[in-house]
Amino acid sequence: MSKPFYVTTPIYYVNDRPHIGHTYTTVLADVVARFHRMRGEEVYFLTGTDEHGQKVEKAAAARGITPKALADEVVANYTDLWQRMGMTHFRLIRTTDQDHKEQVQRLFQRLLDKGDIYKATYKGLYSVSDEAYVTEMQAKELQAQGLAHQLVELEEETYFFRLSAYQDRLLAYFEAHPGFVQPDFRFNEVKRFVEGGLQDLSISRTSISWGIPVPGDEKHVIYVWFDALLNYLSACPANCWPPDLQLVGKDILRFHAVYWPAFLMSAGMFLPETILAHGWWLMGDDKMSKSKGNVVRPDTLLRFGNDALRFFFMREMQVGHDRGFSFEGFMDRLNADLANGLGNLASRTLSMIQRYRGGLVPVPAVLDEQDQELATRLLEVFPEYLEKARANDFHAALDALWSYLRALDGYIVKAEPWKLAKDPANDPKLDAVLANLYRALRATALLVAPVMPGLAQSLWESLGHSDQVGARTFHGFALDGPAIGPIGESKPLFQRIDKEKEMSELEAAAAPVETKPTLDVPEIRETVDAESFFKVDLRVGRILEAERVPKSDKLIKMKVDLGIEQRTIVGGIGKAYEPDQLLNRLVVVVANLAPRKLMGIESHGMLLAASDNASKPYLVAPPDDAQPGFLVK
Ligand code: MSP
Repeated sequence: MSKPFYVTTPIYYVNDRPHIGHTYTTVLADVVARFHRMRGEEVYFLTGTDEHGQKVEKAAAARGITPKALADEVVANYTDLWQRMGMTHFRLIRTTDQDHKEQVQRLFQRLLDKGDIYKATYKGLYSVSDEAYVTEMQAKELQAQGLAHQLVELEEETYFFRLSAYQDRLLAYFEAHPGFVQPDFRFNEVKRFVEGGLQDLSISRTSISWGIPVPGDEKHVIYVWFDALLNYLSACPANCWPPDLQLVGKDILRFHAVYWPAFLMSAGMFLPETILAHGWWLMGDDKMSKSKGNVVRPDTLLRFGNDALRFFFMREMQVGHDRGFSFEGFMDRLNADLANGLGNLASRTLSMIQRYRGGLVPVPAVLDEQDQELATRLLEVFPEYLEKARANDFHAALDALWSYLRALDGYIVKAEPWKLAKDPANDPKLDAVLANLYRALRATALLVAPVMPGLAQSLWESLGHSDQVGARTFHGFALDGPAIGPIGESKPLFQRIDKEKEMSELEAAAAPVETKPTLDVPEIRETVDAESFFKVDLRVGRILEAERVPKSDKLIKMKVDLGIEQRTIVGGIGKAYEPDQLLNRLVVVVANLAPRKLMGIESHGMLLAASDNASKPYLVAPPDDAQPGFLVK
């Protein structure tokens, strides 16, 4: 039995609802899956959700529900969306599924027995926001970016995976498999990373409880990436291994192109054939993010039908590169290519066949040079499309097809069939034109079926077919074969979008009515008695002067009035506030803090500010009518 074509998407975190970024990856996988089915292959298409780890634990805590309850809720969003998008995955694996948990523990044990997983003590820095240990080098980078506050000193017992032992083997494998990671420029980044040296990878945590326990040592939970990557294995039926194509975003390539192959090598398993890293949908030049409030949800765009969104994704995004999203661009593309381009061509052709030939597609007796040229172009563009699509370059495939469709418009303008129809002497030429147009549309319906299953089917039926176009295969399709019968009823393929009207509605719908971002804060600190707390002298102060400390982008030197005296205080708020914004502000000052020197300036106190690990500091502000010197208690 031949091996099915096995294609995967990343598994999505369940700390948020899906946005168009997640939708894009899954659409690409679905288009690939449908394309391979139409190549006559059996296909196994897997997607899923990544449900363990601190991110989910925190998001659930913020909502006051259990992580599993949160996961169930978000998974329902995914299931519903995938159904509305027309996805044909075989399984949506959840990392909380029992078979997956067992698989992860089994493999962990196997690598432990083999000696590739070992227990040791980690001592060093840890990045709270990335949930990862940080090397000296990385720590310096974070410091340079002003993100050092995210680092904590840590000493803990952990299980390590012997990643360092796989550096040479990985490089040798990369050398021998030049198509392993695509596109090439990403592959080069991966190679450079591995050449730079691999350190053993910590793959357990004791600080988290929401995860799969280490077998036999249950205070450790298996690191979420070890858990997550193995989903591709847990969900794989016996005859499927290895994956043929694994789609990932550029941000998670390292996990897939370095850690994942090393785990598989250690387990003695075949590696995936290709890992394809795609770029991101951006808003302007910005990453989409909840905190920026610029996230586009697929529901906003689904009102134009799933075919429209699927087509837009495939047509616009050059796999591998980033692409800016705009509602205007979205509507322009659909109007140009679907309402005008293909839609117009189909309705003109079908109405001419109806009007001039009573719905019967003629078989041409002769082709003149012009007809021949168009007929030949179809024979060329068909395999060109298939070849590009086989290389997962649907952008280029559709581009080639649409430039052929534009050539057909030109062909109609030149041939002027409405004039030909006036004189029976022109019948052979009119037959040739109508047959050429019909065949072009028939091939188009077949080619675009993986991208726009609904629209392709509707075109297919208009052309007189009653079977499912998606159940056909490309191979051996008779491009110049006669029509199988009279054409069907002509339905508009795509309703032109009234851009002006939609723009205002879409923008309103996309406006950030987002839930508040999740909190990145530590647990409540240990209890202190009131006496200890009251030792801290907190006063209302007013900032009288503020200036930046030279050579520091973070520190601001201030003169603060405490009612009974004035103080010099240096605060690390320079990234969040300009000195001008601080003047005359009321603040809360820790007035009895021992003085300390910051960049040569003695600071006598500290301003209270609120923040989480990810946000800027917000100065705590007493009400306007409070007076400098008031005691805060
Ligand atoms: N759970 C991990 C993946 C584990 S796979 C074993 C994860 N999840 S995620 O939900 O954060 O992201 C899933 C995918 O969505 C990633 O491939 C990521 O690149 C992709 N996208 C997230 N935002 C995106 C855009 N704005 N544009 C395109 N894809 C983006 O990472």
